[in-house]
Amino acid sequence: MTAPGSQPARQGARSLDPHLRRYARRTAGMTASEIRALFAVASRPEVVSLAGGMPHLAALPLESLSAEVGQLIASDGLVALQYGSAQGVPELREQICEIMALEGISAHPDDVVVTVGSQMALDMVTRIFCDPGDVVLAEGPSYVGALGSFAAYQANVVHVTMDDAGLVPEALREAIVTAVERGQRPKFLYTIPNFHNPAGVTLAAERRAEILDICAEHEVLVIEDNPYGLLGFDGQTYPALRSMDADNVVYLGSFSKTFASGLRVGWALAPHAVREKLVLAAESATLCPPTFNQLVVSRYLSTHDWKGQIKTYREAYRERRDAMLGALEQHMPPGCTWTRPTGGFYVWLTAPEGVDTKAMLPRAITQRVAYASGTGFYADRLGSRQMRLSYCYPTPERIREGVRRLANVLEDELELYRTFGSVPGREVSGPQAPSPDTA
Ligand SMILES: Cc1ncc(COP(=O)(O)O)c(C=O)c1O
Repeated sequence: MTAPGSQPARQGARSLDPHLRRYARRTAGMTASEIRALFAVASRPEVVSLAGGMPHLAALPLESLSAEVGQLIASDGLVALQYGSAQGVPELREQICEIMALEGISAHPDDVVVTVGSQMALDMVTRIFCDPGDVVLAEGPSYVGALGSFAAYQANVVHVTMDDAGLVPEALREAIVTAVERGQRPKFLYTIPNFHNPAGVTLAAERRAEILDICAEHEVLVIEDNPYGLLGFDGQTYPALRSMDADNVVYLGSFSKTFASGLRVGWALAPHAVREKLVLAAESATLCPPTFNQLVVSRYLSTHDWKGQIKTYREAYRERRDAMLGALEQHMPPGCTWTRPTGGFYVWLTAPEGVDTKAMLPRAITQRVAYASGTGFYADRLGSRQMRLSYCYPTPERIREGVRRLANVLEDELELYRTFGSVPGREVSGPQAPSPDTA
């Protein structure tokens, strides 16, 4: 017989999630990003979204691409629509090596694994290296999708300080030594050296060798994530960490920012033994990356002026960056500071004391502007005064209007703080799964 009252309680739990008790422990670290919850509202046309990392695909030559895709099916459809190798299409892997050479990397196509975006590579790298409780090092703040993968495999993220010149070598050394003293040698350092997401800074050339030396000395692998490296606004590139150390760096690349994010084609370049494990992990995840998408990328690279396309993207993003920096200068209340990116998609803004950017977000959306609040970019709940502002997608006019609205929201927030000594609705959050909107 059922005890009085137990039925409604069970029904309540069931309606919450009937599978709750079945999930693996690792799912506890998987939570949706806050902006995903607000996505329906934030994507209304009247809201200027400075939250998303969506590339400016309107700059693509859609007509000639459509002709190319048609020809691909007509001439090579039976290959393009068939399963392929788990490591990826060989001709694409050769082309990827030519692209990586632009940042000084000399690599063999055999050491490249094509992945479903570099996000999949991040997942696989974490899967093959991290047991629950393992320590991984990452810049603070760091890419939300990487933090999501680390959380999914129950790794402990230790953030390493950055400044305007990127990761601080001394802070890295200290973080490693502290972890080793606690008996937890970090499994790897995850770093985004160029045009950082979300911080907008770039690792100074003179720090690169030092960071590699520190990691080699302490036997810490380096995961170099570089989706924005070719998007320097003056066409500038930096030597990839992988070009300076082929044995201790796993390099991740992507066509998402330089061509088309929806094709979901990225890659990992890894030392031989690691590459073997990555291929096995990829096989169990997807059997093979989509042959069709890989061949679309490969044909695009061989038939289109892809370097010219990257230049077009760079120029569009530079104009948008200028619009954002100009508007920030003009409108932001005193006490706000922000980074000045020389490439990529993002500005990282720090608000004065009294502002909690997560608590403020619903109010900002009511005022028709959205941003990504800072706490999602930390595993340890820091970042409550920070926000990431993306200039990649809206037009310069919309960016200026969005920043103007945001400045008004911040002004109101600071006014409340000055009047009451606090602002209602304070909350903090942990690492979040990536969503296409915050990527
Ligand atoms: C730093 C970083 N790494 C990886 C990714 C994932 O890119 P992809 O589209 O190749 O999966 C992103 C996407 O925004 C990113 O910013």
